[in-house]
Amino acid sequence: MTMQKNNELLDSLASVTDPQTSQKPAGGTTADAHAYPKSSEVFRHNRRFIPGGVVSVNRAVQPEIVFTKGKGAYIWDVEGNRYIDYHAAFAPHLLGHNDPYVTDAVMSVLREGDSLYGAGTTQLEGKLAELICRNVPAAESVQFLNTGSEATCQAIRLARAVTQRDHIIVMQGGYNGWHNDVACNLMTPLEVIGPRVSPGEYPFIPISAGIPREHQKLVHSVNFNDLQSVEYVCEKYPVAALIAEPILQNIGIVKPEAGYLKGLRKLADHYKFVFILDEVKTGFRHGIGGYAKIAGVVPDLVVFGKAVANGYPMAVLGGKKALMDWFVHPEPSKRVLLAGTYNAHPIPTAAAIATIERLLMNNGEVYQKVERLGQKMQSGLEKIAATLGLKAVVARQGSAFCLYFMDHCPKDWHDLAAHHNFALDLKLRLALIGSGIYFFPAAVKQCSISFAHSDEDIAFTLDQIQIHLRAIVG
Ligand SMILES: Cc1ncc(COP(=O)(O)O)c(C=O)c1O
Repeated sequence: MTMQKNNELLDSLASVTDPQTSQKPAGGTTADAHAYPKSSEVFRHNRRFIPGGVVSVNRAVQPEIVFTKGKGAYIWDVEGNRYIDYHAAFAPHLLGHNDPYVTDAVMSVLREGDSLYGAGTTQLEGKLAELICRNVPAAESVQFLNTGSEATCQAIRLARAVTQRDHIIVMQGGYNGWHNDVACNLMTPLEVIGPRVSPGEYPFIPISAGIPREHQKLVHSVNFNDLQSVEYVCEKYPVAALIAEPILQNIGIVKPEAGYLKGLRKLADHYKFVFILDEVKTGFRHGIGGYAKIAGVVPDLVVFGKAVANGYPMAVLGGKKALMDWFVHPEPSKRVLLAGTYNAHPIPTAAAIATIERLLMNNGEVYQKVERLGQKMQSGLEKIAATLGLKAVVARQGSAFCLYFMDHCPKDWHDLAAHHNFALDLKLRLALIGSGIYFFPAAVKQCSISFAHSDEDIAFTLDQIQIHLRAIVG
């Protein structure tokens, strides 16, 4: 496929499957009204009251399916169809949906009359803070928020306060939330972003309207796995922070090359910027200490969300005490405001404590099982690709994987956008939904295995993938 064709395809797919990159309103026509009549009914109702009919517009995909229940590895739609779920609501459910241990902890705080006291500290938040600080090397102290976006926003503000600088570096192909500093340069079509530049930077390509132009000048986007471009930006601007996912998990699984994360650490020390690792997707899913621990790097600040509370709205901002203490700086002009009515609400706090306790149990049996299932999925997919003579690779970290239709694992967004067969990816995902397997129907979205998945689930999934791929590619 030519570059131009691929770009056209990317553009058209973006409008259908990835509203984060699209300016088009969410929703639209209901393509599968025939297959999902009850879902269509709900969408028709919801569209009257919600723009596009769905909250969080990155959930707006075709086919439009309304889900009603989740348990373990499965979700059910309003028609009564059951799906093996690999979407996991954009990745939080590492233990599976409605994990009984976590549910019990939540029920218990409700039964005991815990409330959002909002008048001072609580024992519960202290317990969660200690649990994280004792298990995560990068977290000497922590604060709690509700969402990953709030936490990355606070991390960047803290970095600016501490360094007295304004510029930040983000990754092309990374996602760090919806706020002004980071809502940019995700799955940018190559015809918009242009060819790879290194050393150099890309223009700020917003994924949201309404970001002030003056603000955009403070944000510098560089390729992942490209240390030279970080140096380039640092030589030109006073950089307060670099924020990066340690693995780009919003464009599948794009892993850091050997030495890359350590190289970022060195550059942070040299140029005195704050190194923020966004572990909202990687943290807890790949290990208790986050991917940073696996890679042997210690960032200045780290952000967790998603899997930390197995589906409850909890985010964690942690890091070096000397930085975190700026939230209570004795000089008011230096103090960074961290506030939030619902921060450390007892329900997500109890859920996070229970999730971490569960992850620590029985010698890390959760991680052992999902790694085994992940390996099974990977080798099964590789075998299918070989049998069918398909150009395909599996990128995987533990329970998280992505099947790319290209001949090597991508090293950055440009590599992926230029080589991956997006159309085949989407076709396969749509076909699997018809077979009761839910891969999110947007190309290159990461798939997540949970502790609740079984060997039979993986085997059935592989069988169906083989059947559908054979039918698609002939
Ligand atoms: C790496 C990363 N950072 C930050 C966020 C934002 O988190 P939230 O959606 O909870 O605001 C996401 C969400 O997908 C993410 O994947």
